[in-house]
Amino acid sequence: MPTPVHLPASISARTADTSILACNRLIERGGDALVDASLLRFADPFGMALLGATFHMVQAQGRAISVRGLHHAIAGYLHRMDVFRAVELIDSTPQLNDRRERSDALVELTRLHHRRQVDEAAYRLAVTLIGSIPGVDANAPPDEMTGYTAFDRLVEPIQYALGELLENALTHGRRQGFGDACVWVASQYYRKSGLIRLGVVDNGCGFLATLRNHPDLRRQDHLEAILTALRPRISCNRDLRFGMESVNQGVGLTTVARIAEHAGGRLTIVTGNAIHDTVGRSRALLGGAFWQGVAIGVVCRRDRLPGIRFSELLPPYTGARPQLRFE
Ligand SMILES: Nc1ncnc2c1ncn2[C@@H]1O[C@H](COP(=O)(O)OP(=O)(O)OP(=O)(O)O)[C@@H](O)[C@H]1O
Ligand SMILES: [Mg+2]
Repeated sequence: MPTPVHLPASISARTADTSILACNRLIERGGDALVDASLLRFADPFGMALLGATFHMVQAQGRAISVRGLHHAIAGYLHRMDVFRAVELIDSTPQLNDRRERSDALVELTRLHHRRQVDEAAYRLAVTLIGSIPGVDANAPPDEMTGYTAFDRLVEPIQYALGELLENALTHGRRQGFGDACVWVASQYYRKSGLIRLGVVDNGCGFLATLRNHPDLRRQDHLEAILTALRPRISCNRDLRFGMESVNQGVGLTTVARIAEHAGGRLTIVTGNAIHDTVGRSRALLGGAFWQGVAIGVVCRRDRLPGIRFSELLPPYTGARPQLRFE
């Protein structure tokens, strides 16, 4: 019988340290993995995406995973979110009957391994973020001049911004020998608080590996790499091929952070041993926790999204992508 790894009571962005420590133990311990989930009562999309990535990596090592002690209060929900789809559940029989279509409230844990999956996933996430906002009707007739509905005009920039995060994971994350890296996403709308939470977690090379030789990186550490990546127009791929269109602009991450901020929220970004919150808190992860890759939690207020002037959130830059239409 393997020694169990205990999940903490909360697997979430707010408890990133203990959540990642549990994932580290699961990945590092040899043999089949036994997860004791008896304390677990809350998981946010960041935590679910971490778990998804962790389970995948354990299984990729040829190790089986079983989960015991899952409390009934959370079993149904985690099952609905597909968190335990690929693992064996011991002594837990979650109800399977609530499989209603909930695209206005959640996106189940999803693994993306190919860039062609990005657009659809980003669209589903954007639709969930927006949900059903009074005055924004997804089925309203389109504007005669532009052919777009108010819903389209809201979905498009959010889809674009989230697509950027996913693209980052599947391009930058795959540099430096991490060609198999994937990205896990999940999202949930919390009705009582009006908050939307999103998790985007990859198991790639991390920020520091891509920015190590960037002239603007002042210190070779993970926190400095996060802060550098967040600055507009910083890209590991910028100016390398001067004059060519495919060079990255270095605006993806910055734009997502600005959208979250304008919607009354923030990003929590973890890579390596560092955690940074875009409202200004940064520190090393506690207890020696370490995430190989990039883990991002986004939180924002759904009701603030329609009021955002997306065109103003893009930093000024030349050579804007032609397909962009932030209005
Ligand atoms: N998931 C990730 N894994 C590793 N490095 C990343 C990841 N996401 C971003 N980065 C690093 O942060 C930098 C800034 O990211 P950002 O999305 O802002 O710009 P970009 O992707 O380079 O350009 P653009 O998004 O405009 O095409 C990247 O160039 C890369 O070095
Ligand atoms: Mg990018």
